Amino acid sequence: MIDAVERKIEQYLGELNDPYVFGLYRNLPHGKRLRTKLILKIAGSALKVVKTAATVEMIHAASLLHDDVIDDAYTRRGQTSVNADKGNKTAIMLGDILYSKAFFELNSISPEVAKVISNAVVALSLGELADVRLSEHFHTNRDAYLKMLYQKTASLMEASAEAGAILAGKNRQAYRQYGRNLGIAFQMIDDILDITEDSKTLGKPALHDFVEGKVTLPYIYLYEVLEEEDRTFLRSLHKKQLSDDEANWIKSAMKKHKTIEKSYAEATLLIEEAIALMESLGEHDLTNIAKAMIERKF
Ligand code: IPE
Ligand code: IPE
Ligand code: MG
Ligand code: MG
Ligand code: MG
Repeated sequence: MIDAVERKIEQYLGELNDPYVFGLYRNLPHGKRLRTKLILKIAGSALKVVKTAATVEMIHAASLLHDDVIDDAYTRRGQTSVNADKGNKTAIMLGDILYSKAFFELNSISPEVAKVISNAVVALSLGELADVRLSEHFHTNRDAYLKMLYQKTASLMEASAEAGAILAGKNRQAYRQYGRNLGIAFQMIDDILDITEDSKTLGKPALHDFVEGKVTLPYIYLYEVLEEEDRTFLRSLHKKQLSDDEANWIKSAMKKHKTIEKSYAEATLLIEEAIALMESLGEHDLTNIAKAMIERKF
């Protein structure tokens, strides 16, 4: 069924009658298609469901095109990113084309679905901007981090789950909650993997967040437990290209103070809540999606 979603996306982009743009899209690797899997598991495979998943994947791809410009990231999904390969201008406009075509198509699916998804993209954009602003200076504001995380990543997963529920005539609120928990945990794990995995495994730059100014949960927890001298040292590394020694210092300090484990435990709690909710509804496949998400390596 994922194939049907791929074909729908290609059909939408074919309608633009622009071989260059079509070629740019065709050259993007597909990624994990997590949001598609979520929607199909909730709502089945009717045409409206396939269309919804297609628009969500287009929106997600657009957000990544823009995100790699914002984050100065030169690889994505295991290959050179569009901004690195073709420049920022092309990456931005390909993102805009994908966003706009997706919004256009959403209108003919259902007004309720269109509202839910497009509103999530407002939140996603607010979140990406909040991320940019938070990255300007070192901070340890966990609440600001969590709000930004919800906006930039969880909002689209929450909306995907809700859209699936709308299309399937299921309880919107319950699926929304599931998608929200999944999304927040997903980004927490993404922030952890940035520290624990290498760039080959990730298919995108590793240990890149702090260099870009992003103070993610493991860094916030580390700062909280460090002595003053070490705090000063950690702050001095913020937004700096790290030497091997500096990178190792961060990793071993995190190991010593178990801040990866602490962050992982926080994501796990959210996942357990989401699993309990889905088990109560007899949605075992959605339980499995949640489990796989927290166990992933990329
Ligand atoms: C990457 O999302 C951006 C984040 C929200 C962390 P995914 O990890 O779902 O990206 P792909 O689609 O599988 O490449
Ligand atoms: C971005 O978060 C999430 C989006 C909404 C695009 P990240 O910047 O952490 O995503 P990656 O790590 O580049 O995939
Ligand atoms: Mg990024
Ligand atoms: Mg980013
Ligand atoms: Mg990341």
